[in-house]
Amino acid sequence: MLNRLEHNSYFEDFSNKSSADYYDLEIPSKDLFDKTYAFSAWKQYLVSTDNYFLRRTILGPSSHRCLVKCHDGKIRNMIMLGGNSYFEMNNHPEVKKAAVEAVSKYGTGSGSAPLLAGTLEVHRELERKLAEFKSCEAAMIFPSGFQTNYTLINGLLRSQDAVINDILNHASIIEGCKGVQAKFGTYVDFYAHNNVKSLRRKLEIAKNKCTGGQLVICDGVFSMDGDIAPLPEICALAREYGAKVAVDEAHATGILGATGRGTCEHFSMEGQVDLVVGTFSKTFGVVGGFIAGKQEVIDYLRVYGPGYMFSTAMSPVDAAAVLKSLDLLEQDSTYRRQLWENTYYLHKELLGLGFDINGTETPIIPVKIPNDKAWAITYDLQKRNIFVNPVLYPAVSKNRARLRISLMSTLTREELDQSLYALESVGKKFGVI
Ligand SMILES: Cc1ncc(COP(=O)(O)O)c(C=O)c1O
Repeated sequence: MLNRLEHNSYFEDFSNKSSADYYDLEIPSKDLFDKTYAFSAWKQYLVSTDNYFLRRTILGPSSHRCLVKCHDGKIRNMIMLGGNSYFEMNNHPEVKKAAVEAVSKYGTGSGSAPLLAGTLEVHRELERKLAEFKSCEAAMIFPSGFQTNYTLINGLLRSQDAVINDILNHASIIEGCKGVQAKFGTYVDFYAHNNVKSLRRKLEIAKNKCTGGQLVICDGVFSMDGDIAPLPEICALAREYGAKVAVDEAHATGILGATGRGTCEHFSMEGQVDLVVGTFSKTFGVVGGFIAGKQEVIDYLRVYGPGYMFSTAMSPVDAAAVLKSLDLLEQDSTYRRQLWENTYYLHKELLGLGFDINGTETPIIPVKIPNDKAWAITYDLQKRNIFVNPVLYPAVSKNRARLRISLMSTLTREELDQSLYALESVGKKFGVI
């Protein structure tokens, strides 16, 4: 084992290293923990030079304005441009009330896996409402969105099957694919982002290689880029090849479509996509995920999906909170209208200032910045009380760094203008615009 000082030798000149250097670093050692000591030295360097932004501590609810304890020791009253709770349902009085009532009625946890003693009345009610909301026959729910994608893929695909991904799919889908590939030898491939010609090529290759079924899977709204999948073309092509389609609606549910039912509603394709996946962590301001589809497929996944059978059911408190959020969003379109007003305003103003926002179509706004200035830009914005996350490798590919802005319906025009003023000043200072 190396002593702690020796670990610094892996990063002799910290200032020349990027996130990719430390993420891809292989440290030859027989001691499993040696790499953690080397990372720790790198992290300490980043903190001491104001280049570290992971796990800043939010004091109180994650709201459009929050008190944040930053790594430089200061507590700041910041404008939040980095959360995913699009409608601030996490802090809505009626959602909180529903959660408190659920604690009184059901207690805190569900006590068991759903197939055994963990299915409570409130879970069944949520599944029923979600199936209806997504125009599907049935739905099943999970304690996390990550677990949802993992379970769908590992429950449905076997050795002769193929799964074809958009290259920019969320990490939970990619990890699910790696798992099923390792376990069953399932064929896994990727098509160029939102590129239907590339998808056709990949479906053709899979048809020749595999004797089983095919699944095409994509985000509805892409989590790092904010653009929308061309679902009608994808579904038409999949039909030609006898493939099924799954769409991950994490960032589309509640947001896209005239009544917020997601990408399928946006394209007038409700009930026409084989599998619809979603999360409760964003629009609904809670945590968890769901799969909606045909009754037989859901019944099968409950038994063959590893993350359903072998994991405790989501908390009844979370389920009750999601039900209330869903109710509010269905009853009142004001939430969605405000979010889109904020979205169109910021798109227009950022483009006017000369920022590259990569053709986003939604409240997820990737502001392109140079890789080597990403942390300095983020710190400058932090000092101006703007909370925004820099996104670097491995969350996006190397040299595609960005500030990932995600908007809330509750942000006021003054807060947006204050953010724009800060972004303009910092953009000019660092030569981005
Ligand atoms: C597209 C997409 N799918 C799935 C997930 C995972 O959801 P969760 O964070 O609720 O586990 C995320 C979360 O960031 C996501 O953006």
